[in-house]
Amino acid sequence: MKNNAAEFHPIIKKVNDRLNNYLESSYTPSSIVLSQKPAALLAEEMHIKEWIEKGGLSDKNVETFLDVYLEHSQHMHSPRYIGHQVSSHHLASGIADFIHGAINNPMAIYEMGPSAAVVERVMINWMLDKAGWLPSGDLYDFSYQEQKGDGVFTHGGSMANLTALLGARAAIAPEAWKEGTPKDLVVLAPEVSHYSISRAISILGLGQNNIISIPVDDEERMQPNALKNEIENQLSAGKRIMAVVANACATTTGLYDPLNEIGEICSTFNVWFHIDGAHGASALVSQKYRKYMKGVEYADSMIWDTHKMLRTTTLSAAVLFRNAQHMIDAFQQKGSYLFHEKENVGFDVMPYTIECTKAPLATKLFWVLAAEGEKGMEDYIDHQFDLTKQIRDYIKSQEDFECPYETEANILCFRYIGNDSTNAFQLKIRNAIVTQGKFYITSAEFKGIRYLRFTVINERTKLKDIEVLVHDVRQIAQSLQKDLDLVKN
Ligand SMILES: Cc1ncc(COP(=O)(O)O)c(C=O)c1O
Repeated sequence: MKNNAAEFHPIIKKVNDRLNNYLESSYTPSSIVLSQKPAALLAEEMHIKEWIEKGGLSDKNVETFLDVYLEHSQHMHSPRYIGHQVSSHHLASGIADFIHGAINNPMAIYEMGPSAAVVERVMINWMLDKAGWLPSGDLYDFSYQEQKGDGVFTHGGSMANLTALLGARAAIAPEAWKEGTPKDLVVLAPEVSHYSISRAISILGLGQNNIISIPVDDEERMQPNALKNEIENQLSAGKRIMAVVANACATTTGLYDPLNEIGEICSTFNVWFHIDGAHGASALVSQKYRKYMKGVEYADSMIWDTHKMLRTTTLSAAVLFRNAQHMIDAFQQKGSYLFHEKENVGFDVMPYTIECTKAPLATKLFWVLAAEGEKGMEDYIDHQFDLTKQIRDYIKSQEDFECPYETEANILCFRYIGNDSTNAFQLKIRNAIVTQGKFYITSAEFKGIRYLRFTVINERTKLKDIEVLVHDVRQIAQSLQKDLDLVKN
């Protein structure tokens, strides 16, 4: 294929036809969600080496690569994709990716993508407004000022957590940027925080020993009393608390920490409060479920992935600060190119991001909102949360299954307890399910016990699909048990 529009058009048409078939067949519940092959075999079947050596991919032959590629991809739009917290995205967000693929506007500096830069500022304001951090309520308020919040899109939630904690470090120890991280800083986080938090803390130079784990209750939620005691302990030991981190919601369970109580404690001690809302901040869009986010008004920073519950393709997340100044202070490389120091039109977000070149991530979210409207987004979130509660009731009603908690968001842990209910046995079941390829589910430990786990993130998933899954798990468990009994005897 030559690099010109004339050759682009026919290949895109063919790719589009193939994608149509792929999507149509993905929607069928009985289709295969995931068909894995050993890596070397798959490489051979895609002829990767030959393509690299000879080139020549064009509209005449693209299917020879693409059909194999699609067959062995994860089928995110199958109703039985109920795996990780990665959206079975709204196709409208893929249109943003397609347009970016044609125009390639990395918009961290305004002049490299003015339209995308404006879309990002409006999307940030939309998110701030949902958090109650945009007092004017004006989505076109592009000013930077302390009274309002601010934020920026990053390539994923892990990067967003790192950026938020950098803001927390700048607030308590502004000298750290030049002199390195002081030795007396600690971060308090629940035992079960996402691993990107502990990574960020090491990257920021605090070291793992300065993460203080706050005990969790029977549902793995942070215990506010334990937090208060630990803050007092740390302060009396001469430590400075850089941040308290809370889950909204926890990765394993989808349960929310008591943000309101945690927020009140942080406010009493004047400590930075960070909410990891990668998955669950989307409850802010729902009248019915925003109650889980009560306490957001106390937070100093929050992250919110759009490629989880806001239905966009990967990767896209926002890091939000309640006070714009904290975002401005996070990175102290103030150059002459800063938006308010130059006379150019527009604004640059580059001073506030780890990334230098940055994709127009917020346009993905814009396309979903523009397609469905806010109400459509709210309906989607309500539906997924409601359905997960129904599914939980159904699984719980099966006497050979167990669900350890009442769900809040759309993540559910369950396990088969008909015969062998050891951790190793649950993993065997999970592996067998994934190898069969009819369903894609995950697995996680909750209170030291291994569970099967799923995220009801796909708008096409029905209770009926879960009934089939329960049936399959039961069958697999019984046949695994037979094999084990044979070995024993
Ligand atoms: C609570 C939480 N925080 C952060 C992340 C990391 O987000 P990302 O995968 O976008 O880097 C995840 C991912 O699942 C998560 O569940």
